[in-house]
Amino acid sequence: MTPTTNLMGTFLEPDELRRRAEDERTRARRSYGFAARLLFVALDAVYGRASTLEKFRVLEVVARVPYQAWEQVAFVAVTHTHSDPTFARDIYDRAAEARAQQDNEMMHLLMIEELLGQEGFRRTILKGVVLPQAMAFVYYQLSWLLYVVRPGWSHGLNADFEDHATHTYLDYVHDHPALDETPWTSTFADDYGRSDTVGELFRRIALDEAEHRSDSERRIHTARFGRGSD
Ligand SMILES: [Fe+2]
Ligand SMILES: [Fe+2]
Repeated sequence: MTPTTNLMGTFLEPDELRRRAEDERTRARRSYGFAARLLFVALDAVYGRASTLEKFRVLEVVARVPYQAWEQVAFVAVTHTHSDPTFARDIYDRAAEARAQQDNEMMHLLMIEELLGQEGFRRTILKGVVLPQAMAFVYYQLSWLLYVVRPGWSHGLNADFEDHATHTYLDYVHDHPALDETPWTSTFADDYGRSDTVGELFRRIALDEAEHRSDSERRIHTARFGRGSD
């Protein structure tokens, strides 16, 4: 089966993957806004400053919700399309993009869950279920509200989140060279695309996040419906 969810449809060979991952790892971080900083502080307070699989899992639970919120707003906007074909086409394209990004984030979440399961990780109700859902709920409401008030703000927040996720994964791989010796075995390998090692898998996930960041950065100034895709 041809991988469709990895890097939103592009499968990179390992050498190219490493080169692009290193470019992203050494790239300057965005200047994060207040809401993003608050979220990162909350994550560190609950799950510790160090990166762990458990923390990645929470990142992926939260990562999906802006795309859900945007898809929801796009469907509401359908009722305002009137007869303008450009507007309708733009809404359709954005809803499709938001769904593809949700699928990509869900695939990340499933693969992280699988790795946690292989490690025999046992989640607690509070840190494993209640708090991730609470964070996702608040983040959904904020993403939705910002998108309704000024879509560019919602894309700015998401760009911050995705940039942070990119660096978090790539710093983790850089700090744990043993991951490049750890074989990756997964029931999702055919769906996401094969990676020989967990290090390679995390680089692929990180480059997905970098692409999400770039997509949102492009949208910051063209976010309102009817202004096209780029
Ligand atoms: Fe993700
Ligand atoms: Fe992402």
